Amino acid sequence: MGNESFSSRMNSGETVVLPLKTDEDVVRLRKQVRDDLIAMKFSLIDQTKMVTAASELARNTLRYGGGGEAHVSRRLDSDRTGIELSFVDKGPGIENLELAMTDGYTSGGGLGLGLSGAKRLADEFHIDTEPGKGTRVTIAKWKLF
Ligand SMILES: Nc1ncnc2c1ncn2[C@@H]1O[C@H](COP(=O)(O)OP(=O)(O)O)[C@@H](O)[C@H]1O
Ligand SMILES: [Mg+2]
Repeated sequence: MGNESFSSRMNSGETVVLPLKTDEDVVRLRKQVRDDLIAMKFSLIDQTKMVTAASELARNTLRYGGGGEAHVSRRLDSDRTGIELSFVDKGPGIENLELAMTDGYTSGGGLGLGLSGAKRLADEFHIDTEPGKGTRVTIAKWKLF
């Protein structure tokens, strides 16, 4: 979706749902997030932070969650606007969340900086996960009007 339809979509509070099944889906998600952040006039540094965090979480959805979806939506307060991104899968879930959040911990030969890095890069970070059921990671970034 380009920027033309962005304002009506974001004003109506609609959520864009993108599949996360392939590497190309991750590329598409990165572009969607970048375009939305630009349309919302986020700074270049905040764009980079959120696109980086989104990439890490999307790759986790693919690699550990067996694929899933990304949900992109806008949030609105009286004095600020924000973007919210959720990464949802019905994979194995995370047995030990504290361990998974530790810098450098990986169960799959990665760098172990995806979850902890995404938490540092975003303003809000939340994980819902249940062994055998799946995982939902939500991040948000805010900008004052
Ligand atoms: N969606 C997910 N489903 C199941 N486990 C996950 C998921 N995301 C992350 N994890 C677990 O958390 C660990 C840490 O993730 P992360 O910090 O991104 O490091 P890395 O991707 O390099 O392993 C992963 O190795 C994996 O065990
Ligand atoms: Mg990772």
